[in-house]
Amino acid sequence: MTKYGNKLSWAVGKKTVLCIGTTTIDFVSTIKHFPGENTHQQVIGGYWIRGGKASNNCTVLANLGVKVELLGVLSNWSVFQVLIDDLRARGIIIENCPRCDQGAPFSSVILCKATKTRNIVYCNNNFPYVSIEDFRKLDLNRYGWIHIRALYFDKSLPMVKDIEAYNATSKEKIVLSIYFDNNLDDMWPLMDYCDYAVFSKKLAQTNGWTSMEDACLQLDERLRMRWGLNLKRPYVVVLWGDQGAGFMDLDGNFTHAKPHKPRRIVDALGAGDTFMGTFIYALYIRERSLAVAVDFGNRMASYKCTRNGYDHIANILLPPIL
Ligand code: FRU
Repeated sequence: MTKYGNKLSWAVGKKTVLCIGTTTIDFVSTIKHFPGENTHQQVIGGYWIRGGKASNNCTVLANLGVKVELLGVLSNWSVFQVLIDDLRARGIIIENCPRCDQGAPFSSVILCKATKTRNIVYCNNNFPYVSIEDFRKLDLNRYGWIHIRALYFDKSLPMVKDIEAYNATSKEKIVLSIYFDNNLDDMWPLMDYCDYAVFSKKLAQTNGWTSMEDACLQLDERLRMRWGLNLKRPYVVVLWGDQGAGFMDLDGNFTHAKPHKPRRIVDALGAGDTFMGTFIYALYIRERSLAVAVDFGNRMASYKCTRNGYDHIANILLPPIL
C-alpha cells in the first residue's frame, strides 16, 4: 500500500456518520435551450443516478472513505433494486432502512446550457418517511455524527430529543447537524437541539432575508429571543449560491466565506448536498475549524459542478501527479 491516498486512514477510529432522509432516482437531461411548451427536444447528454439529499450526503461521505449509514425508507419494487444495489456497492450501511411496497420518489432534472440553470421536478407520491420507531431500533452508541434534513417536524422532533437524552448520559457525545430548506417557522424548535444548523438560500424569499449577512442577523435575533435559559445554540451556516456562504459562531459573530468559482459548470445537481457531506467530513473526520470546514464545503460544492455525479469528489484525496 502506498503511503499517500489511503482515504480510509483519516476515518479510522471514528464512529459511523448517520444521515436520515430519503433516496430517490434522478433522471438528468442536459439540453441546449430550455424547452418551450409542447415541444419535443433531443438531449445533448443524459444519465440517471441515485439521489435524494440524505442519500447524496452518504455518497459524498462514502467517497471520502467515511463509514456512513443511511436511515430512510427503501422501495421493495424490483425496478428500484438498482438504488439498493448502488448503496450496497458503495458500502453505505442500509441494514436499518425500513422497506415499503410503494415506488420510490423520483426527480426529472433539466440542466440547461443556455440559461445555466438546473430545474428539478420532484415526484414523491406520499412515499413514507422513517418513524421514531425505526429510529429507536438503532444503537446510538455506534454513531459519532447524525445529520437530519428538517422535512417532517413531527418525525424529527422525537429523534433529536432522543439524541439529546443520549448525550446527557453518555461520555462520547453525538454531534447533530440539521439542514433547513423549507417551512422554517414549523421547523424552528429543532434549533434547540442541534450543534450545526445549515440554511439553504431557498429560505431567503419566504423569510425576507436580503443577503447572507442579513439572514445571519435575523437568525441571531431569533436565537436570542428564545425563552429557555439553558437552550443550546448551534453554529449557523447560510448557503448563498455563487456568493459563497455566511457563518456565525456561538456569540453571533458573522463571517463571509468567499465563493470558489467552478472552472466550468457541467452539472450543479446536488451541489448543496455535496457542501453538507464535505462540511461534515472536514469538521468530524479531519477535525478542522468551522471557517475551514465552510471554505472546504464551498470549494467542494464548486468542484462538484465541474462533472456529473459525485465520484470525482474522491480525487481530492489522491496525491498530486508530479
Ligand atoms: C438534489 C436532490 C436530488 C433529489 C432532489 C430532492 O439536491 O437531493 O438528488 O432528486 O434534490 O429534492
